[in-house]
Amino acid sequence: MSKIRVRLGINSYNIYIGSGLLMQTARQLRENGFAGKLAIITNPIVKRLYGNALKQSLTREGFKVTVLPVPDGEEQKSLEVAGRLYNELTDFYSERTTPILALGGGVIGDLTGFVAATYLRGVPLIQIPTTLLAQVDSSIGGKVAVNHGQLKNKIGAFYQPRLVISDISTLKTLPTQEFNGGLAEVIKYGVIGDKEFFAYLETNLDRIKSLDERLLKEIVYRSAKIKAEIVEKDEKDLGLRNILNYGHTVGHAIESASDFKVEHGKAIALGMLAAGRISNKMGLLDKTELVRLKSLIQRADLTTELPRLEVAKIIQAMKHDKKILKGKVRFILAKALGSVFITDEVSLSLVERVLVNWNEET
Ligand code: NAD
Ligand code: GLY
Repeated sequence: MSKIRVRLGINSYNIYIGSGLLMQTARQLRENGFAGKLAIITNPIVKRLYGNALKQSLTREGFKVTVLPVPDGEEQKSLEVAGRLYNELTDFYSERTTPILALGGGVIGDLTGFVAATYLRGVPLIQIPTTLLAQVDSSIGGKVAVNHGQLKNKIGAFYQPRLVISDISTLKTLPTQEFNGGLAEVIKYGVIGDKEFFAYLETNLDRIKSLDERLLKEIVYRSAKIKAEIVEKDEKDLGLRNILNYGHTVGHAIESASDFKVEHGKAIALGMLAAGRISNKMGLLDKTELVRLKSLIQRADLTTELPRLEVAKIIQAMKHDKKILKGKVRFILAKALGSVFITDEVSLSLVERVLVNWNEET
């Protein structure tokens, strides 16, 4: 088992990463001072795969456990569902010290985090992420939220978990498409924070895709470490933390312009390539590194083909996303693999040119 300490003063916590950790949850809880009652929020898919066994093992170890299932899907991240969960927690006589365990992907993590942050003005949150995206990204750093109308992830808080338990063996049941979506974020960490990690992914991608446990543990560990270090420096997302959005400016716009028909991971992959091409055109990322980025995205079975969408619609979506100010777009650009910076100096016309000429570009 590997451990990462996220150092945030009194809100510091540990991330544990390893194979088979789920069944050791009782020990981790006890070591972190928890006993007695606890609630698990999960969805029916994850409950069947892991939730029932987790409940049994915690019950055997003397915990009094209730499982609160929420249907699968992004639409469950809502105030209405949070409201129902508050009632169920009250029925369970959940107290301020009763921890809530978020067992599942980013949807369960964000929703449970929001409930934990607000129920009784805050109760202990334990993240037990079961998707690659959640293990490398959403369970770390304390961004918790629900959606509301047009506001995606905008009703929320910064609320750090007390503990993150990433059992990499749960990734074995993940649908390939979800695994690849998580790989987009893993590649992102190579681009934003660690050139050597990018090269490691190039060397080992095939074994990672075959779900070799040693490599899964390594990529989750290295990604989580990069994210933890960024969060430590800018917990409230006032500056540096923005670099975690590498690829998201164009990526989100593609997702939204396609009415969310383009999956998140693929949209982010396209966004990362777009940001790479823009960087190259502005005299930053060199061609060899741009080709390496494109090739890794392709090998991860993420797409580099821009779907048939009107470029104007993508630009419009960026405007709607408020990422455009006076004809300039907020971008994370790459000087080189492993080195990025935030800038407002990207002209809309350059973004348009890259999108219009997509098939002719490197
Ligand atoms: P998800 O939570 O919808 O999970 C994807 C699918 O995998 C679901 O159908 C789920 O039931 C299933 N699943 C989960 N674990 C499984 C397992 N081990 N085996 C088989 N199936 C499993 O999607 P996600 O990609 O994990 O998360 C996306 C969400 O995360 C979005 O709502 C996004 O806004 C949020 N997010 C939050 C942050 C943050 O910092 N808080 C960062 C990135 C993304
Ligand atoms: N996923 C982006 C962040 O945590 O800031």
